[in-house]
Amino acid sequence: MKTDIGVIGMAVMGSNLALNIESRGYKVSVFNRTAKRTEKFVEERAKGREIYPAYTLEEFVGLLQKPRKIILMVKAGKPTDLVIDALIPLLEKGDILIDSGNAYFKDTEKRLALAHKHDLKYIGMGVSGGESGALHGPSMMAGGDKDGYKEIEEIVKKAAAQTEDGPCVAYLGKGSAGHYVKMTHNGIEYAVMQILAEAYDIMHTGLGMSADDISGEIKKWDEGRLNSYLVEITWKILKRKDRETGRPMVDVILDKAGAKGTGKWTTQSALDLGVPVPSIGMAVFARIISSYKNERMAIAKNLNGSLSKIDISNKKQVLENIEKAVYTSILITYAQGMHLLYKASKEYGYGLDLAEVSRIWKGGCIVRAKLLNNLKEIYRENKDLSHLFLSVKFMDMLKNDISGLREEVIIAKKVGIPLLVTSSALDYFDSFTHELVSANIIQAQRDYFGAHTFERIDKEGIFHEEWEE
Ligand code: 6PG
Repeated sequence: MKTDIGVIGMAVMGSNLALNIESRGYKVSVFNRTAKRTEKFVEERAKGREIYPAYTLEEFVGLLQKPRKIILMVKAGKPTDLVIDALIPLLEKGDILIDSGNAYFKDTEKRLALAHKHDLKYIGMGVSGGESGALHGPSMMAGGDKDGYKEIEEIVKKAAAQTEDGPCVAYLGKGSAGHYVKMTHNGIEYAVMQILAEAYDIMHTGLGMSADDISGEIKKWDEGRLNSYLVEITWKILKRKDRETGRPMVDVILDKAGAKGTGKWTTQSALDLGVPVPSIGMAVFARIISSYKNERMAIAKNLNGSLSKIDISNKKQVLENIEKAVYTSILITYAQGMHLLYKASKEYGYGLDLAEVSRIWKGGCIVRAKLLNNLKEIYRENKDLSHLFLSVKFMDMLKNDISGLREEVIIAKKVGIPLLVTSSALDYFDSFTHELVSANIIQAQRDYFGAHTFERIDKEGIFHEEWEE
């Protein structure tokens, strides 16, 4: 007996992916660094299934049909390197390693080179969808060796989330393309989560609405154009009561956000490539600010000022504007993320098809949303669209409702509610849609103190002004 594919790493993502693949008619071998976890898995969740445990890497490799297909679902960074180093001497020419963790894309490039040195094939494949996605059908973003992908294509297509537009998996490009797209997916994820949190803040702090009422409001959004996974989980979260106190769960959860780093990587990479992604960056900063809980408490006490409430003489209108603000700022976030992918694709030669990226994000992943269908259509019509704002169709989706975003930002600012992501989305929109920005002043200042020179609007060349009298 030989198995079709193997999974290393039996934490929840790895074990769920193994169960998912087996349920599509494949034999799967599994291995975990600590044997206990594998034993528990095969005795409980994998009992009676075509899942074959191995307790040494030698045994694991021996179970696999050639060319061996090995999915790594281990922690990104050092743990991934350790597994690869241990596997290499046991593998043969043509075997395929598939890293499905949230690897940093530059690490994927290094690992690809190492795999090639040993005549192995390497695929960096971002997997999104959390525990449930891994079990029932995730979105998978693959990059690296195309011929290696061909060998696993049938399996991953069956295991992926299915939509009317096909399975949510694709080979996206060479090198680290898959992990770069997954990283950017997470950057967008951070921003959309924060936009929803900010809308909650306005309704909760500004309008004094209860968690149940806010849940009802967000549920209505979910029935319309904002239909998406993150909107859905947010209204469900707001409905949940704490078993101990009976209070809304959100009222007992400490306002201190964690992060594993993918949003930070997205922002860092965007800075390296000179692509503005302020909403993603602000989502990272918002989480960082939240982590200074003690400082915030001390400062708030010193200031002794509580937020005033928003005038709710026209609550219906305010709520309509919040929906518009959420919709437009999410669209603007996508524009930033897609712009980053466009630039990264040129810089790193990925050859990304952004219609295909939008398509495979339609199901299974955390950012899955109805509006991705529009993005897919827009990119299908114009394969080399550098920025979504250049699409008339996209601007048509945005322009009528930008007024709602403005209104939300104004009312929140009046009473002091922070909107790091939402208002940065508006500032981004206002910067990109104006022919003139204030950079003439920046250039004059640079030239004043550092003779950094400037260009003129009326003639070619580089100029310097003697500013001091
Ligand atoms: C996904 C998620 C997943 C994970 C993130 C969370 O697409 O399934 O993005 O990859 O939940 O790592 O990241 P933070 O811990 O940084 O919020």
